[in-house]
Amino acid sequence: MSAPVRVAVLVSGRGSNMRSLAAAAGEAYAIALVASDKPEAAGLAWARESGLATFARSPRGIGKPAYEAALDAALREASVEVIALAGYMRLLSDDFVARWRGRIVNIHPSLLPKYKGLDTHARAIAAGDDVAGCSVHVVTEELDGGAVLGQAEVSIVPGDTPDALAERVLAAEHQLYPEVLARFVREGAWREG
Ligand code: GRF
Repeated sequence: MSAPVRVAVLVSGRGSNMRSLAAAAGEAYAIALVASDKPEAAGLAWARESGLATFARSPRGIGKPAYEAALDAALREASVEVIALAGYMRLLSDDFVARWRGRIVNIHPSLLPKYKGLDTHARAIAAGDDVAGCSVHVVTEELDGGAVLGQAEVSIVPGDTPDALAERVLAAEHQLYPEVLARFVREGAWREG
C-alpha cells in the first residue's frame, strides 16, 4: 500500500474543518503542515497543541509575493503534495494557484455554483431556497469556481436564520470534507497533470 498523501491545511480562523480533517487522517492522507496567514488563529493554536507542524506568517508588512514565497517554501520543505483550504480567508495569487495546479482544494458553504463568495447562508435564505449545503471543489484562479468534487445538502427550514443554518451546514462540512479529501488523494488526479 502506498504511503499517505502529505496534505497541508490552510486556516485563518477557528479551524473546525481542519480538526475534522485531522481526525480522519490515516491511511489516505497525513497532515504534514497546518499553515496560517493569521498567527493568532485559534486553529493554529490547536494544531500546535496537537503536535502538528505549523507555519504562521502574516502578509502584513512583507506583502503578498513575499508571504506566498515563504508559504510555498514551507510547503515544499514539508514535502506537501496537496493543499486543503479550510476557512482560509485570503485569495491565493494566480501565480501560486498555477504552481500548485490541480492540487488545491477548498470547502465552501453553499451548493456551488450558487453563492460564490461571502454571506452564502443569508443569500440562500433571502432567495427563498429550500435547500442549502456545502461543496468541496478544486481551487482555480476563479473564486469558488473550480470543479466540484462533492456536495452535501442541508434543508432550509421555516424561520431559519443565517447563524442557525450555518451551524447545520458546518456539521455537514465536517462529514463531507474528510470523505472527499480521502477520495481525491486516492484518485491522485493531479499526478497525471
Ligand atoms: C466554513 O464554513 C467553510 O466552509 C468556510 O469557512 C468556514 C470555516 O470554518 N470556507 P472553520 O474555520 O473550519 O471552523
